[in-house]
Amino acid sequence: MNNSKEFSQGEIYEPSEETRRHAWVNNERIYEMAQDYLTLWDEVAKSDIEWFEPYEDVLDDSNAPFYRWYVGGKINITHNCLDRHIESKGDKTAIIWQGEPENEKERITYHELYRRVCRFANALRTLGVKEQDVVTIYMGMVPELLIAMLACARIGAIHNVVFGGFSSTALRDRINDANAKVVVTMDGYYRRGKVIETKRIVDKALEDCNVESVVVLERIGNDVSMVDGRDIWWHDLQKVPDKCECKALDSEHPLFILYTSGTTGKPKGVLHVHGGYNVGTHITTKWVFDLKDRDIFWCTADIGWITGHSYVVYGPLSNGATILIYEGAPDYPQPDRWWSIIEQYGVTVFYTAPTAIRYFMKLGEEWLEKHDLSSLRLLGTVGETIDPEAWKWYYKNVGNEHCPVIDTWWQTETGMVVIAPLPGVTKLKPGSVTLPFPGILVDIRDEKGNPADSGELVITNPWPAMFRNLWGEPERFAKQYWRSNDSGELIYYTGDGARKDGDGYYWIIGRIDEVLKVSGHRLGSAEIEGALISHEAVSEAAVIGKPHEIKGQVPVAFVVLKTGYEPSVELEKDLKTHVRNEIGAIAVPEEIYFVEQLPKTRSGKIVRRILLAIEKGEEIGDITTLEDITVVEKIKDVKGAK
Ligand code: WTA
Repeated sequence: MNNSKEFSQGEIYEPSEETRRHAWVNNERIYEMAQDYLTLWDEVAKSDIEWFEPYEDVLDDSNAPFYRWYVGGKINITHNCLDRHIESKGDKTAIIWQGEPENEKERITYHELYRRVCRFANALRTLGVKEQDVVTIYMGMVPELLIAMLACARIGAIHNVVFGGFSSTALRDRINDANAKVVVTMDGYYRRGKVIETKRIVDKALEDCNVESVVVLERIGNDVSMVDGRDIWWHDLQKVPDKCECKALDSEHPLFILYTSGTTGKPKGVLHVHGGYNVGTHITTKWVFDLKDRDIFWCTADIGWITGHSYVVYGPLSNGATILIYEGAPDYPQPDRWWSIIEQYGVTVFYTAPTAIRYFMKLGEEWLEKHDLSSLRLLGTVGETIDPEAWKWYYKNVGNEHCPVIDTWWQTETGMVVIAPLPGVTKLKPGSVTLPFPGILVDIRDEKGNPADSGELVITNPWPAMFRNLWGEPERFAKQYWRSNDSGELIYYTGDGARKDGDGYYWIIGRIDEVLKVSGHRLGSAEIEGALISHEAVSEAAVIGKPHEIKGQVPVAFVVLKTGYEPSVELEKDLKTHVRNEIGAIAVPEEIYFVEQLPKTRSGKIVRRILLAIEKGEEIGDITTLEDITVVEKIKDVKGAK
């Protein structure tokens, strides 16, 4: 990486006296104390989380990497998110919901949320949903999405939320892989003034699935077809009691599966459990966002991704916070929609992604200047590296130079924030994710596995909210992420490249594998390649992530056609539609190049690095390992001709 500016140590932002004074954590010794991580994870689990039965051991590492946390404890995450708040905060707003149409909004108190979750939990039971059954949830951003998740958790069922932007094919694959018994969905929702016809997408997916029931929420009132004996309206399931006892579950009882992209074509079903996930998301929400009772917390992530699971739903609700959820697009009907929402509701803590920040930077400050954003006191970012320029823009224009910018590094697999500042103690450096969260030991390894200042980011101890398995693929789980160090201990390899500076601060460089981040969404090259190859005209495909000013990266595809097919503008369009249908709009390549051959090594491995260099117009570097070096010039010609 040649961006030397990112590694300068010139600019340091100290916590303000005000932030320090009020912060949950304001003793710098926390970092030292947390080296004894088991004690820390024991203490916070006891002080901040309620257990039906106490655990016997904090950690069981006897069958690593199949770690078990809070062994023998009985818990239910929904007790901590709902029941325990009823007495003290029953009338407090849990959810502020804002629809895309400005006049559609709702406020739900903790008591009301509790009742609605209980009712839906009973409804699921009437459909035959039992402990360990999988329920797929495919919805837009409405309160019922959270209610469905919490209802599953309450009865020990496993939820699998599929991001609403995924296509029917992607949804079908996830339903089948998870072996879902029930699907919860809706008629449709609004996005940029248009209705997304969710139920129609579900119907298409279900042509090749075997689910018992489909619950359909009426949000819009658009026409949907209901299949007799399978489809039931949400409102027709409401004649059930609004009390549903919270099932006392084992700490390690599965909570959810969330599919995410890796280096192979097939997405991985990342599995999280009640106990450790509750502890990890609770304490990171509290300490990293320094969440207080009066806060209004808005995490803009879609609930279909891990950020939504951990920091829209579970972490904030476990803390008894007021959360805001917004249905629609950030710039609809005008580019200041988000700022007007912050002003209208007095949002105090705001958590978003660099791609959004870059987008608003480009639109200009005038959209912010129209609004009073003085309610804000803390800003967060996640999903990809934020460059110092965007960091400072966010700090100055959104935070008015008085909100700390908290850059949080983590993954679907980690479940919780792993590297991030603590606002009351940690000095900030724009562009750095700063220091590991107390209780998590992070380091960097070179290619040989030795500690280094630059290389792959690793985590050297287990942590409570870590994923426990890949759904149906325990071998892949054990093999892909973990490697032993010299003393035989397992180390978690993150797949991210990073550097550590003289102060021990971490600077994330980006993925070192074939995983892309497109507008913060995680996608695999292999997944998009698989979609392209499933088209009848395509023989081979290679996909790279090309840097993009706003989206961070965009997919670009190099495609070899089968004999009998000729490159054409129509075929390019057709392939883009095909990827949209197979995965979703976010995966559609910005550019497709029809080439005769892909650059491959003698053993047949595609060298995507070369394609990326060609696309960026950079030096190609060493090509001697290629089976046929003439392919480089040929691909350059194709690109040049476009
Ligand atoms: C990237 C999202 C730089 C990283 C929570 C990681 C980041 C991947 C940051 C996980 C950050 C996440 N700075 N890069 N603050 N946060 N990433 O599973 O490459 O969707 O491996 O989880 O996002 O993406 P995922």
